[in-house]
Amino acid sequence: MSEMTERIAALERAAREAIDAAATTLELEDARVSHLGRRAPLPNLLRGVAELDPAQRAQVGRAANEARRALEEAIERRGGDLAQAELRARLIAEGVDVTLDADPLPAVGRLHLITQTRREIEDVFVALGYDVVEGPEVETVHYNFDALNHAPTHPSRLPTDTFYIDTGSGSPDIFAPDTPLLRVHTSPMQVRAMEAQPPPIYVIVPGRVFRPDSDATHTPQFHQIEGLAIDTDITLADLKGTLLTFARAIFGEQREVRLRPHFFPFTEPSVEVDVSCFHCTGGVTPDGQRCPLCKGTAWIEILGSGMVDPNVLLAVSDHGYDPERVQGFAFGMGIERIAMLKHGVPDLRLLYDNDIRLLEQF
Ligand code: PHE
Repeated sequence: MSEMTERIAALERAAREAIDAAATTLELEDARVSHLGRRAPLPNLLRGVAELDPAQRAQVGRAANEARRALEEAIERRGGDLAQAELRARLIAEGVDVTLDADPLPAVGRLHLITQTRREIEDVFVALGYDVVEGPEVETVHYNFDALNHAPTHPSRLPTDTFYIDTGSGSPDIFAPDTPLLRVHTSPMQVRAMEAQPPPIYVIVPGRVFRPDSDATHTPQFHQIEGLAIDTDITLADLKGTLLTFARAIFGEQREVRLRPHFFPFTEPSVEVDVSCFHCTGGVTPDGQRCPLCKGTAWIEILGSGMVDPNVLLAVSDHGYDPERVQGFAFGMGIERIAMLKHGVPDLRLLYDNDIRLLEQF
């Protein structure tokens, strides 16, 4: 073998090594440029074949051409393999599994526990035929106290128990019927509802109420739902049956209610209503402990109520409420209290902190 053909063989070997070593199509292109490119040794050598003497020309030209063709084929083959492997890798990397679930949607908000509870209570009474009405949070002494049969000496009239509104004309006259205040209960709407429609009337009144109190079981603002039913032949038994239906709908079918004598200026007789504890039996938990919810008494107070005092009806007798002809009952409950009892919320203020960790639990 001539010196020239040996050189060609060496160039071909070097080129093959580079081709085999190329791990990507890019590296392969580099190998092609450096071994078969315009300035590479083998093409250079081919270009010089014409200057060789005729004896060598044919042999060297053939050897160099064959080497070039063989290398071009090798590049072609290797290039095909590398391109295919790269395509496969890309398809895997960029693959989308259309059978997978979509990312969950960001959580939407939810109703606050107080709103949920209010609606739940409203649903119970709407199913019993009650209308839902609302009234002003800024009330007057007349509606909040006088029309509800409060004696002038009733202690909740004191500014320590009621927010009076400073109208700019000196300290408010807490006995003038028109003096504005923040209602301390939803009961003023008993009077307003009766003024707005003659008997029979069955209404519930959800809304905000205000009292100057603040501790674990009192906030200066909270929510009540008032109930009022006036018709002919309504008795305390109707009140008890209605509240039993309510208690069972909210706290479970096994519940009982009991009435305890109490006093409210606008009902006579007045009662406090207890529901049988839904956390224990007879004040004792399943593991033999004194029940923490009812404090071992087996009963939990849920609301105040009573038969509407004839004096309240007399205050709206112009609107068709003759206490000789119609009578009825009223009740008022704290929405927060119902929610806390039902869901075991330990501190009333948690409902007003707007801490997402609490809100998300309901
Ligand atoms: N208004 C009373 C309170 O806030 C509750 C109540 C309402 C009692 C209706 C009797 C009748 O405590």
